[in-house]
Amino acid sequence: MATKNVKDDTSSASSSSKLFTRAEVAKHNDHKDTWIIIHNNVYNVTSFLNEHPGGEEVLLEQGGNDATEPFEDIGHSTDARQMMESYKIGELIEEERKQDNGKKDRDWSANGEDNSSSWRSWLIPIVLGVFATLVYRYFVSTH
Ligand code: HEM
Repeated sequence: MATKNVKDDTSSASSSSKLFTRAEVAKHNDHKDTWIIIHNNVYNVTSFLNEHPGGEEVLLEQGGNDATEPFEDIGHSTDARQMMESYKIGELIEEERKQDNGKKDRDWSANGEDNSSSWRSWLIPIVLGVFATLVYRYFVSTH
């Protein structure tokens, strides 16, 4: 009876995502109802206010706002990033997302010019290796 129910779980990002506008989020900005935007996701942190290790003031200050920058400036741990998943209530509508906010991963690879330095990273060890071999052979042949 292996009729597996193949749901369309093609992407984890699309699961249970309600869409909000920045204006909608902005309405939730007091200690009874605090929403914040981080990396284009919307979080309801009301129940987290007095549990936040960084204090409730900082969250209240950001209530209704996009807190991506202050959040990243603090350099939150992986634990914190996992924790925030449980407060996620949705995402911003497509039109209001910020481009350069693309999730946690920095765009290491997106920068095409950076790739030009990758050949240097293996060329240097090879040159050093060849040089060391030549020096070694020189000593072996002269002694
Ligand atoms: C849902 C969102 C958030 C979660 C789950 C969260 C969670 C945490 C956690 C677990 C810590 C302890 C340190 C660590 O593990 O990194 C922390 C510290 C802190 N957080 Fe957050 N945070 C959130 C949002 C924010 C925002 C929006 C701000 C700033 C506006 C902020 C400011 C701080 C500060 C100042 C500290 C203290 C850092 C320190 O003492 O070195 N957090 N947060």
